[in-house]
Amino acid sequence: MIIANWKANGDIKSNKAWCNQLIVRMSNRGLKSIGIAPSFIHFNQIKNAFINNDIKVGFQDIDIDGGARTGSISPSMAVDSDCSFCLIGHSERREIFNEDNNIISKKYKMLVKSHIKPVLCIGESFEEFKAGKTEQKLQTQIQECIQGNISSENLTIAYEPIWAIGSGNTPKPKDVNTIHEFIKDVVQSASENNLRPQVLYGGSVNKSNAADFFVEKNIDGALIGGASLDADIFSDIIEIYSRHKEK
Ligand code: PGA
Repeated sequence: MIIANWKANGDIKSNKAWCNQLIVRMSNRGLKSIGIAPSFIHFNQIKNAFINNDIKVGFQDIDIDGGARTGSISPSMAVDSDCSFCLIGHSERREIFNEDNNIISKKYKMLVKSHIKPVLCIGESFEEFKAGKTEQKLQTQIQECIQGNISSENLTIAYEPIWAIGSGNTPKPKDVNTIHEFIKDVVQSASENNLRPQVLYGGSVNKSNAADFFVEKNIDGALIGGASLDADIFSDIIEIYSRHKEK
């Protein structure tokens, strides 16, 4: 799957042009295996723009409950809006909004309960990467966020090294492949039904490096920030994905 993470970008006029362009560009291929995570305020606009297409529209985050929680979007609102998936644990949420594995595990549990696919984002800092602590960090994040609560219909993991996000720097695709295999092993050994999850790579994916990632066996797709804001570039990446993963 390829997911566009728009973060706090977009406006009604440019979103409309973006959706129209994607539909034109994807007229032969269709829009399966593609997700878009716009801001909450643009969710319905994007959902309606693709009403006749096989595209998944999701949230970038969710709260753990509803009711007296000013400013929040609750899991039941996500269900009511027909939200297909939800990112949780993005490093920007962890850093800017002080989210830790404990709160992310509550979000994960609520999504599983609500039958919304969680896309759990994990990743190490540059210091951890340099110190050879990547696997240790990822294993802790997975175990503390999912706490053995694994459901096979759901759970996708997005591996996003923090130092690669929006920086133009990326790890070597072969190294990412090895890390994805490790992530699948960690989830599988914690899973009652032998689940090996889809693992997406995120962090400065663009149309020049996408093929190098998608050629790798354990890289099942991508979570794309900056490069997803341009419909043409995003379409180019989808075409590269199709060539490598939908043969
Ligand atoms: P980027 O963002 O593609 O701009 O590096 C990825 C992400 O934060 O999900």
